[in-house]
Amino acid sequence: MTDDLPATAQLIHDLLRMAPTSSPGHRALHAKGVIATGTFTASGALAGLTTATHLVDGITPATVRFSHPGGDPNVSDAIPSGRGLAVKLRAPDGSHDLVSVSSPAFLVRDGDAFVELIMARAPDPETGAPDPARMGAFLEAHPEALPAIHAALTATVPASYATVAYNSLHTFLLVDDKGRRQPIRYTFVPVDGVNAANDSETVTPDHLLTELTSRLARGAASFDLVVALGEPDDPTDDPTAIWPERPTLVAGRLDITAIAPDAEPVIFDPTNVVAGVEIPEGDEILALRRLVYGLSYAQRTS
Ligand code: HEM
Repeated sequence: MTDDLPATAQLIHDLLRMAPTSSPGHRALHAKGVIATGTFTASGALAGLTTATHLVDGITPATVRFSHPGGDPNVSDAIPSGRGLAVKLRAPDGSHDLVSVSSPAFLVRDGDAFVELIMARAPDPETGAPDPARMGAFLEAHPEALPAIHAALTATVPASYATVAYNSLHTFLLVDDKGRRQPIRYTFVPVDGVNAANDSETVTPDHLLTELTSRLARGAASFDLVVALGEPDDPTDDPTAIWPERPTLVAGRLDITAIAPDAEPVIFDPTNVVAGVEIPEGDEILALRRLVYGLSYAQRTS
């Protein structure tokens, strides 16, 4: 565990901003992206598990953002990499943010390890490239990073933002009207299936925006919100730990219908939850994200 979380958050933010491709007017990570709007239609499958009515019934307006994980706002879509999907459900009693990535696991489980990772990946001043020995030493000290590193090394170029599955990685608790808590993790599963780009002619530095624009002109880009039900021994405080296969419910469908002008600054923060959804104790990465996202937001909107 990290001793001083606010100081570590500040250090992480400052280190991320030192990257030569970082740009103060953009996010410190996930800098390249596109905002869109749509709706979430609950299926009713979570009835009895949560008092959050928007997860059980009705249609809730949503703002979403697809992104590339790096800090460079001009990174090419042709570079194989994971992707992000952030969803803000504008629920009756506040914003419920679901912030997800295509990786099956996160790299680290505490802030100090994240600082070590940034240092290990930093370019060597002499060669201008990361030093493989430093990364090797990091992985030896942090074997929990291996599933995420493996996913990064085997990442493909998506054909579309709408053909990627996006995972919460963190655990959340659904709370019912008797105060019972069900740990869950969620995945946005694309209704059109997962599909990597296999025709190099369709891959360009900005093909994902072009593809989304033409896709939405034809109809919605849709995802099922699939919720995995955790069992008592499943870790709830560690986004590096992949759960075994668990029973799932389809909570509802996210239909993304239009690209939105990126005019109003918006922050997607996974700790923005509403009554009926809680954050489990002890997930340091989740606590850190709230702080670092706040610092990044302050810089990009100042
Ligand atoms: C210590 C851990 C992490 C740090 C320091 C970090 C840092 C950041 C920062 C600085 C931003 C930009 C925030 C803003 O300006 O609004 C961001 C965005 C994002 N992060 Fe993280 N992150 C961490 C972990 C994670 C994890 C575990 C996930 C997995 C779900 C994740 C997914 C995302 C996504 C999808 C976005 C884009 C949100 C948007 O479109 O506005 N991050 N992250």
